[in-house]
Amino acid sequence: MARLNPANEQRARALMGLYPRPRSALMPMLHLAQEQDGWLTAEAMAHVAELIGITPAEVYGTASFYDMLFTEPVGRHLVSVCTNIACLLTGGTELLEHAESALGVNAGGTTPDGQFTLEEVECIGWCDKAPAVAVNWRYFGPVSPQGFDTLCDDLRAGRLADTVPPHGTLCRVRRTVGLPAGVPAHGRPMGDEPPGPALAAGGGG
Ligand code: FES
Repeated sequence: MARLNPANEQRARALMGLYPRPRSALMPMLHLAQEQDGWLTAEAMAHVAELIGITPAEVYGTASFYDMLFTEPVGRHLVSVCTNIACLLTGGTELLEHAESALGVNAGGTTPDGQFTLEEVECIGWCDKAPAVAVNWRYFGPVSPQGFDTLCDDLRAGRLADTVPPHGTLCRVRRTVGLPAGVPAHGRPMGDEPPGPALAAGGGG
């Protein structure tokens, strides 16, 4: 259980600076908090509320609405097995049953070692590779029962660490925060760029 650490508090303040109103930064701040702990602790949500100047209940109301935000602990690997139509027709339901048996938890549960949380999901947009599985929103398919076991073994052993980061990590490329709106990276305001080569040459006519 933790509030935002100093580095993440700094990032949160920078995120708020990107918007005319601090509360507009709520969603990216929640993703930041989830990236820190793997899920949204009550303390982190209270800290976000404190920074923005809204109530913890308002933060919780938003956090509990979205499927990608978790207000309960989540295993290091969130394993999402799709059972929607394309996956259903290619063994998705059987794959989910196999996953429950292999991991020893029902959908919605977390393994005692905290390695895996298993969930059943609607279409994850990987239909042409059905039956499909997502792990921390990285996609695999088609996945056979044997392939599922291999996938879990590889995750446990850290062999996929370059492909599947810990739960909560949405993107490994950090956005540079703090640039005022309308000012591109080179620092000139929009619409104030110097003439390009063609204009500088008078159009070549
Ligand atoms: S139906 Fe399973 S990924 Fe689309």
